[in-house]
Amino acid sequence: ARPDGDVVKAEVEPEAESEASPTQDKEDDKVSYQGAQVIQIDTQTAKDVLDSILEKGEIEEWGRNKTHVDLYLPSKSTGSIKSLLMSKNISYSVMIEDVQRAIDVENVVETEAEDEFAGRKGHKMNWKSYHSLSDIYGYLDYLADTYPSQVKVGSVGKSAEGRPIKYIVISSGNPGAKRFWIDGGIHAREWISPATVTYIISELVENRDSYKDFASDIDFYVVPVINPDGYEYTRSSQRLWRKNRSKGNYFCPGVDLNRNWGYNWGGLGTSNENCREIYRGTGPFSEPETRAVSNFILQNKDNMKGFITFHSYGQYILLPYGHNYNSYPPDFKEMERIGRKAALAIKSVSGATYQVGNSAKLLYPASGGSDDWAKGIAGIKYAYTIELRDQGTYGFTLPAHYIIPTAQEAMAAVKTVARAVQES
Ligand code: ARG
Ligand code: ZN
Repeated sequence: ARPDGDVVKAEVEPEAESEASPTQDKEDDKVSYQGAQVIQIDTQTAKDVLDSILEKGEIEEWGRNKTHVDLYLPSKSTGSIKSLLMSKNISYSVMIEDVQRAIDVENVVETEAEDEFAGRKGHKMNWKSYHSLSDIYGYLDYLADTYPSQVKVGSVGKSAEGRPIKYIVISSGNPGAKRFWIDGGIHAREWISPATVTYIISELVENRDSYKDFASDIDFYVVPVINPDGYEYTRSSQRLWRKNRSKGNYFCPGVDLNRNWGYNWGGLGTSNENCREIYRGTGPFSEPETRAVSNFILQNKDNMKGFITFHSYGQYILLPYGHNYNSYPPDFKEMERIGRKAALAIKSVSGATYQVGNSAKLLYPASGGSDDWAKGIAGIKYAYTIELRDQGTYGFTLPAHYIIPTAQEAMAAVKTVARAVQES
């Protein structure tokens, strides 16, 4: 996918030069997003045109709110889509001028020499950069070794490519404890999600004294990366991959794991086409990841009262049900009350605004999501999807220095829901 000019240049370069960059080969396997853009347009004035462009599947909706929608334009489509919009008199603004450039600068990776704690800490996490799956799993193992009486680490099962899906249980030691589920990384490209969930783990374990008011009443069941294959694939090959890596279709692998859960599977906001980003798979729980995680939740659902699945982006606290516009659980008002409290807590931590409401109404209907299943089938009272930062400035390519502020907000939301769980 590299332009010819680069190939010619590489050939005339002296041998010594290319040996000086041993990562070159690996880089060549990566998809380049050079020339791709993210633009924002007004949702209302453009509705019909917008629907017809999205219907074709050539460009992708990255995010939306009441007034705007963010559209990802692959480089080959930027010209045609922009002229189409101009011809219909629809104005747009460019949010991300060059997606590859945004990817190139999002992740600061410190060398061991720069990291003053490296080697002494016993793990590699620093929340200053986005980490590999092996760093994340290494951290869970480190916690298991270091806090054997408080935590238990294991695997809920294996991904399509055979990677373990690791969990950590952070236990209060109280036999009557309520349980609280937290997960991240179901969508591969939403890097802020595993980063945030590992931060939450670190707070609950290594900063336990700050959470005394609920720590002895709640056991946390946490899976930081539900989709490990997808996550690794976004690091090695295609930064904007969303689905898992299951090989149902040779040309278009992968299933959207948040359309694959067994509650109103196959309804609105899903696709039966392999190549679409919202491909639902061949049936409910057709994927090893959703099967393993849902079974693990069912095995532990007694007393499970809290459930938060972290996604990005948009800054939302989303409530079930999301499979259509008019299905509400009977205790929706109570869920909303706690959701609003969580948004207030976030606001007081960082000033950020998170909108609270039903996911179909606030975003769009989407069936087969884990939140709907958690509420409707597993019967978990306080079940939320939280869409972390931002609101479209960087989208999925949120620079790594936002990890800590974003994770602190998320921790404020977890605290609020934990108190509701404690009292439930
Ligand atoms: N952005 C998330 C997704 O598209 C939202 C999921 C909300 N939940 C739902 N059941 N629709 O997967
Ligand atoms: Zn997502």
